[in-house]
Amino acid sequence: MTGFLRTLYNSYSLLLVGVVLSNYVDVAASRVVAKRQSQTSGRQRTSLNADWRFERFTSDPDGLSYEGLRPWILPCANDFITGQKYERPSAPAPGANISYVSSSFDDAEWEAVALPHDWAISGTFDAPGVDGGLGKLPINGIGWYRRTLSMDTETLQSGKSVFLDVDGAMSYAAVWLNGQLVGGWPYGYNSFRLDLTPYAKAGDNTLAIRLDNKLDSSRWYPGAGIYRNVWLVTVDPVHVGQWGTYITTPSISEAEATVEITIEVENKGNSSQHVEVVTEVFERDAASKQATGDAVATFPSANADVAGHAKQSVQGSVTVANPKLWGPPPSQTPNEYIAISTVSVGGQAVDSYETVFGIRSVAYDPNQGVLINGERIYIQGSCNHHDLGALGAAFNTRAAERQIQILQEMGNNALRTSHNPPAPEFLDLADQYGLLVMDEIFDTWNFPKTENDFHRIFQEWHEPDTRSFIRRDRNHPSIISWSVGNELPEQSNSTGTETGRTLQNIVREEDSTRQVTIGMNEADADTEIAAVIDIVGLNYQGEGKGDSWVASFPGFKEAFPEKMIWSTESASTLSTRGKYLFPITANKSAIVGGGPLEGGDPETNIVSSYDLYAPEWAASPDKVFEQQDRHPYVAGEFVWTGFDYIGEPTPYANESRSSYFGIIDLAGFKKDRFFLYQARWRPDFPMAHILPHWTFSEDRIGEITPVHVHTSGDEAELFVNGISAGRQSKGKYDYRLRWDGVQYRPGNISVVAYKNGEEWARASQFTAGSAMTLNVTADRTTIAGDGYDLSFITVSVLDENGIVVPDAADEISFEVTSGQGVIVATDNGDPTDMRPFPESTRNAFSGMALAIVRSEAGASGEIVVEAKAEGLEGGRVVLTAS
Ligand code: GAL
Repeated sequence: MTGFLRTLYNSYSLLLVGVVLSNYVDVAASRVVAKRQSQTSGRQRTSLNADWRFERFTSDPDGLSYEGLRPWILPCANDFITGQKYERPSAPAPGANISYVSSSFDDAEWEAVALPHDWAISGTFDAPGVDGGLGKLPINGIGWYRRTLSMDTETLQSGKSVFLDVDGAMSYAAVWLNGQLVGGWPYGYNSFRLDLTPYAKAGDNTLAIRLDNKLDSSRWYPGAGIYRNVWLVTVDPVHVGQWGTYITTPSISEAEATVEITIEVENKGNSSQHVEVVTEVFERDAASKQATGDAVATFPSANADVAGHAKQSVQGSVTVANPKLWGPPPSQTPNEYIAISTVSVGGQAVDSYETVFGIRSVAYDPNQGVLINGERIYIQGSCNHHDLGALGAAFNTRAAERQIQILQEMGNNALRTSHNPPAPEFLDLADQYGLLVMDEIFDTWNFPKTENDFHRIFQEWHEPDTRSFIRRDRNHPSIISWSVGNELPEQSNSTGTETGRTLQNIVREEDSTRQVTIGMNEADADTEIAAVIDIVGLNYQGEGKGDSWVASFPGFKEAFPEKMIWSTESASTLSTRGKYLFPITANKSAIVGGGPLEGGDPETNIVSSYDLYAPEWAASPDKVFEQQDRHPYVAGEFVWTGFDYIGEPTPYANESRSSYFGIIDLAGFKKDRFFLYQARWRPDFPMAHILPHWTFSEDRIGEITPVHVHTSGDEAELFVNGISAGRQSKGKYDYRLRWDGVQYRPGNISVVAYKNGEEWARASQFTAGSAMTLNVTADRTTIAGDGYDLSFITVSVLDENGIVVPDAADEISFEVTSGQGVIVATDNGDPTDMRPFPESTRNAFSGMALAIVRSEAGASGEIVVEAKAEGLEGGRVVLTAS
């Protein structure tokens, strides 16, 4: 493409679409390609996020059920099964008589919503039947969504296909167009496509989607509703099929890389067509995320005859000279490429399709661990759930990006999508930021963990879900492994072994370039499934659970010398940000309880932030680090978890709303442990962090108040009120420095850290006076005025000297006092705070609170956000929407 066309292409893309991250070509791209080819047909992909009406029902509103709809839903799996295809029944499809699917139904009384939408997140934490495990929010019920789709006559008469692409709907989606059942997809975490063409008409069409979210369907907060993006895709009869490209980079050297592509062309027309496919490869500009410059390679043109109503794949191979490799920072750079495939029939371009990819190699070495482009990358990973804290499951690109940025600041280089496929945009971000991903699909197979979880449909849906999952995601360079399951109840019996084998075989058929793993928590080296699955993935048991220091790594190493081993899940340390309970254990790790030395307080539902306590199956970071270091062939760990999440509030299972496992709390505020990980994962970053805060009540004066220091240095000297409490250095398996005998006296504690004998970093804590002011800061003061972009606004309660008041719990009111912005949610990271997330008032917790502000669509200019609290000097921050 010439420079001029490239500029045109880029500006069209930015102007017309506003979809920032996409694996696919958009309207703008096809226009430019069309222009280049003097041809007007092509692909259009438009957002269907706006203008929905929604209603939730907790008693049966329609007499429908998945069981009744199942024969019509199952054929939607046909593209993803290898055996006998499902036939759509000839009997009239259910639902036609339900008023909600009819264009004549008046939905004016229903709630007006925009997608991505999580119907439960705005609720109160007392939903009947929803326990603490699921976060007490109203996730259950039948949800109906309706909207109008306008289609022009030209589109329909020209034989175009019209597809509905749903990135994720929780769950058991069933879709009607103009009163006719189109199909659906049960698994709420997978993306799916439905062909609307046979049901579409010129003019207004009524699209209705029914979701069915059951109680006891999950071990955590699943969210509810159409919680990801939804698209309308219009293509010519001959086009690149759904997720129709597969790019691999089988050989890479500094001088050149081989790039191979398989493109599946679909012909929805009646007659066979001779097609030509030309694919050009461009570098992707990191800032604009657009193809840039001239093509760096062009695949030989590929030709095929594609029969009517059939699909046909073409292949090609090309060499890219001096490839810019994709790899994780800080040692590598996540360079990306874009392949633009143009499909032509009779010399006329009919489709153009973009695939973003990276050139990189991944290898799994049993002794060194993961090698990216030949370099050993120790896995410094975290597991994370899909919810975005106070925003719930409703996907938001900026919220996900903020999480990745905070994780990377800690030195986290890998993420496990526990325990389900993420939003597509999350993987785009991971590619862009160079974050390694373990992409995981299931938490259950045939055996249940909760009454209504995926086990109910595993038999019929495991194959289509697994194939569609891999086809959607396999071009992402960030993905280094597929996980097909977590802590399966059947991991130790023959059913589990067979299921593991089946799933791994399916994965290999869809992608042979990455190894498969599962998270095993109850396996021995002689457990059969361990021999079957490529990578030995151990949850907790590797390092020895709870009080046990007997690591199972050596047994697996001996039994499987050819396999790589990693900790698919580690730590599960529990803590409440900024809260300290005394006395503390003298051990490296202890099992949480309610008594002295046990770290928990069942009265207040707090777990001490010394970060030494974990449930009986787990351990502190310090213990995990030691066990990893004693077994250096282990490829690394995925800590449970990076961020706190809604639900699973162990050890206060039914009391609290959200978890205590996070290194970072639900609001995105760092707990002390953040710095313990940062010290280990970024050893060259000069840093010292000292805990606890130094503002206790009078009755602590003279009491033993241990002081701990996290530093990337190797030694440190502690000063209590200016007097040295001694210099300590880290022993071989020490990861923190502890002064466990310090007595509390108001004033200050400070630390000077050293590395190799040189001063390296300092930190201190001061006793705060009473609260005086609110300090208001924004993570970003310029945001896009697109109705999606966010600014995360933090309030800290300060005393007259600017010191954070660590026990401040003042009630803070947030308000957008001018400009086009809305407060979407507030939070403070307190797992016991039962105030609904959308409220604009929030008590500070450990001195801090958060407001999440979103721009309105079309916003421009200043947005002023003010924070006030009774008796304190308020603060404000000015954002600019552009
Ligand atoms: C693991 C499980 C995770 C989470 C974690 C909490 O056993 O795989 O999903 O429940 O425990 O410690």
